[in-house]
Amino acid sequence: MRCQTGRMTSTELSRLWPAAGLRVAAGDLELRWIDDDLLLGLADLAARGVHDDGVMPFRVPWSRGTPEQVARRVLAFHWDARAKVGHGELVLELAVMHAGTPVGVQGISGSEWSILREVETGSWLGRAYQGQGIGARMRALMLHLAFEGLGAHDVTSTAFIDNAASNAVSQRVGYEPDGVERTVRDDEPATWRRYRMTRVRWEQVREANSALIGAPVEITGIEPLLVQLDG
Ligand SMILES: CC(C)(COP(=O)(O)OP(=O)(O)OC[C@H]1O[C@@H](n2cnc3c(N)ncnc32)[C@H](O)[C@@H]1OP(=O)(O)O)[C@@H](O)C(=O)NCCC(=O)NCCS
Repeated sequence: MRCQTGRMTSTELSRLWPAAGLRVAAGDLELRWIDDDLLLGLADLAARGVHDDGVMPFRVPWSRGTPEQVARRVLAFHWDARAKVGHGELVLELAVMHAGTPVGVQGISGSEWSILREVETGSWLGRAYQGQGIGARMRALMLHLAFEGLGAHDVTSTAFIDNAASNAVSQRVGYEPDGVERTVRDDEPATWRRYRMTRVRWEQVREANSALIGAPVEITGIEPLLVQLDG
């Protein structure tokens, strides 16, 4: 069934694509599927800047360029990511809503999900929303979804060694160090720090992360998504 505007809502879409109905809510914070309306808002947010000009926190430098270039890369990335649910693959790039406002993106991605049950987290916030504790809470919320909702075995994360905020978030929510990796950034050598949270580790830090999230977590739409992932 179509809504009156002729566009399909996430709720309608979730009938055939259950990932579109996923929501993870806790107090004033929510992670939700990114429909086109939300995507446009997030693209505009990213176009207003995600970090200082002189740094590059991402492996793929999508956040550098004119506002139009950055916004178009956000659109293209998410249109591509949306399809990657099922057939062993699990990519969920979810909008971070704070008090009803889209403030950034918190994602997980993993290949061979049905065998490995392992995903890597990735995230960004619009500059106006950074440094207020949202980044740590949204990561804790995503860990809750991964371990409690999706049945993850391991969750990993990586950050360039000069990305103090991202490294601090991984340490705050309890990931364990998992080595380093040398890579190339802007034609120069650079080093990633790897982090890993095993299920055993999650059991140890779950309570602390519940306190960090600060409100009971409600996951909507997980059962049909689990069926979609096994399909
Ligand atoms: C990384 C990011 C998501 C973190 O979210 P955030 O809301 O800014 O972080 P928080 O306010 O929750 O802070 C989390 C921790 O980082 C520390 N921190 C935050 N900003 C910092 C900064 N600029 N320098 C040093 N530490 C910082 C906080 O003190 C806090 O540490 P604590 O838990 O030990 O007290 C956000 O800063 C961001 O989007 N940055 C640009 C994009 C990016 O780097 N993405 C990740 C790529 S791997």
